Amino acid sequence: MPHVRLKCTACDGLHDSSMNTIQCPDCGAPLDVFYESDCQSGDHTWAGIPIPMPYHQAEHSATLGEGNTPVVPVNWAAKEVGLRSVEAKLEYMNPTGSFKDRGTAVMMSVAKELGVTEVVEDSSGNAGASVSAYAGRAGITAHVFAPANAPEAKLQQIRVYGAQTHSIEGPREATTRAAIDYYQQRGLVYASHNLSPYFLEGTKTFAYELAAGPVGVPDHVIIPVGNGALFIGAWKGFQELLAAGRIDRMPRMHAIQADGVMPVAAAFAGDSWTLEDSKPTIAGGISVATPPRKQQVLDILRASGGRSVAVDDESIVRWQKALASREGIYCEPTSAAAFAGLQRLAEESHIAPEDRALVAVTGFGLKDAPPV
Ligand SMILES: Cc1ncc(COP(=O)(O)O)c(C=O)c1O
Ligand SMILES: [Zn+2]
Repeated sequence: MPHVRLKCTACDGLHDSSMNTIQCPDCGAPLDVFYESDCQSGDHTWAGIPIPMPYHQAEHSATLGEGNTPVVPVNWAAKEVGLRSVEAKLEYMNPTGSFKDRGTAVMMSVAKELGVTEVVEDSSGNAGASVSAYAGRAGITAHVFAPANAPEAKLQQIRVYGAQTHSIEGPREATTRAAIDYYQQRGLVYASHNLSPYFLEGTKTFAYELAAGPVGVPDHVIIPVGNGALFIGAWKGFQELLAAGRIDRMPRMHAIQADGVMPVAAAFAGDSWTLEDSKPTIAGGISVATPPRKQQVLDILRASGGRSVAVDDESIVRWQKALASREGIYCEPTSAAAFAGLQRLAEESHIAPEDRALVAVTGFGLKDAPPV
């Protein structure tokens, strides 16, 4: 892939494109895909707009038809939070039921192009299911490490797509540790959705679809954030669109966390927060105590004029149930957290009543059902 290099998010060092380079060899920070200046978008378009991608579409695409998810008005929710207009982008309508498929499709397409045959991933559920599905389709063996206490529906989904599953006891961090030991000992590729720069390239399609839609870029985008893959990828997409003259302004990007695991929200508020401060939360997808891309998320919050807030489990469950019964939107608790966050932002006047807000509904409810 001569048109692509990997750029360090901290020291700006440039490195050759490879699936074996998962962090900057010089300083250890995460990497982003960087396109050489003479590279146009190749043969890729998304929602009718040219888009730079790190693989060559025709021969290597591992697509399952991900993306192009519906945007629907949520009028009851808008009224509930005191805003004129709120829209929901239904990311759970992706092939394995979460936004992760956007990232996995590109990560697995690159893996195919580079001739990778075996990958390791660690996940609380959704990314594992996604990697399991796309790896199977691409003829790649996947080892998915997941916490033993992940929702059974997600664990079952990982298994049925054919990945070799490794169930790890203890906190979420123990699962990551086990996956790292496994790939390092065997010399395998670590297809981590938290670290892979190719995964981020896939999530930027979210922004392209909004830009191509009938109403364009909203004033506010609200996303539940653990490590920030959708958050960072969407921002990168908006930046590319702005640079290409396809849009003329950027949205404010808001990152919603659960108050049990809130490294981003605490750092945004200027408070100290460490792994030892973690408490259990029903929002397993955003239960990431030490997100490797935290600094990138904070930089985007500042650059976009967005905010990060943490919400409690009670409000998350209330929103999960209300969205299902009032809007017909059955999402998982992690996704419902974004609406609890929207409510806070509106109540605290960070979103004005006449502003247009769009919430990413990131994962499907059957994967992680509420108590009824
Ligand atoms: C449904 C859902 N929403 C949001 C997220 C957060 O994604 P990220 O960790 O990339 O911020 C996850 C991650 O697992 C998820 O499963
Ligand atoms: Zn570096």
